[in-house]
Amino acid sequence: MPPPAADSQTEAKRATGHAAAALVEDGMRLGLGTGSTTAFAIEAIGQRVREGLRVVGVPTSFAAERLARAAGVPVVSLDGLGLDDPAAGPHPLDLALDGADEVSPAGDLIKGRGAAHVREKVVAALAARFVVLVDASKRVERLGTAQPVPVEVLPFAEPAVARSLRALGADPVLRMGERKDGPVVTDQGLWVLDARFDGVDDPAALGAAIDGLPGVLGHGLFVGLATDVLVGTAGGGIEHLDCARD
Ligand code: 5RP
Repeated sequence: MPPPAADSQTEAKRATGHAAAALVEDGMRLGLGTGSTTAFAIEAIGQRVREGLRVVGVPTSFAAERLARAAGVPVVSLDGLGLDDPAAGPHPLDLALDGADEVSPAGDLIKGRGAAHVREKVVAALAARFVVLVDASKRVERLGTAQPVPVEVLPFAEPAVARSLRALGADPVLRMGERKDGPVVTDQGLWVLDARFDGVDDPAALGAAIDGLPGVLGHGLFVGLATDVLVGTAGGGIEHLDCARD
């Protein structure tokens, strides 16, 4: 029996992932994001590596690392980038590729459905170009209207951080495992509070306020980091948005 046809959202993600892989040039140092859309890019980069492309990638999660190794994309940790060498400059990675859960018209993001947002932000900030890969369902007029803001917290601090998030106007819910009892535990061994806001008016101010809460490792608001957004369609078309970086 033939495999079932992929749905249109999966086709759009595949188109976006393949368009992103085509941006990779020989010798580049890459950031490898997490999620189903970036997975298509990593697989396509792996195909190009088998054809002779030379790259290295910094994975943003255990999931991305396993995928990259399986696809044959050489992986390197931040230790391997020589960040202590002043010649590394502000952007030692050439290109980071990653998905998103919401994208605003300005190119600001909510990320973290895969609970990888803290490592993803570290890698995005190190990249000269941060290209975000989405299908059209991720576009919103205002961040926080469809998705909560994930906040990674020290388990000890979770009740205190939840209280502070409520004071900021959120309804925070501890993310629970689906095939595991108890909370989702991140790659860092921490927990995630999904903070639902009724829309976020000032993502930069909210992000700074959450960053300031004791016990918070980081959150999924990405403000002024994206340089490009690729929006894929099921038909294979790609809309390319240029974003101003702060
Ligand atoms: C993981 C993320 C993902 O990039 C985001 O959830 C998008 O995933 P997908 O491409 O599967 O829709 O932020 O932490």
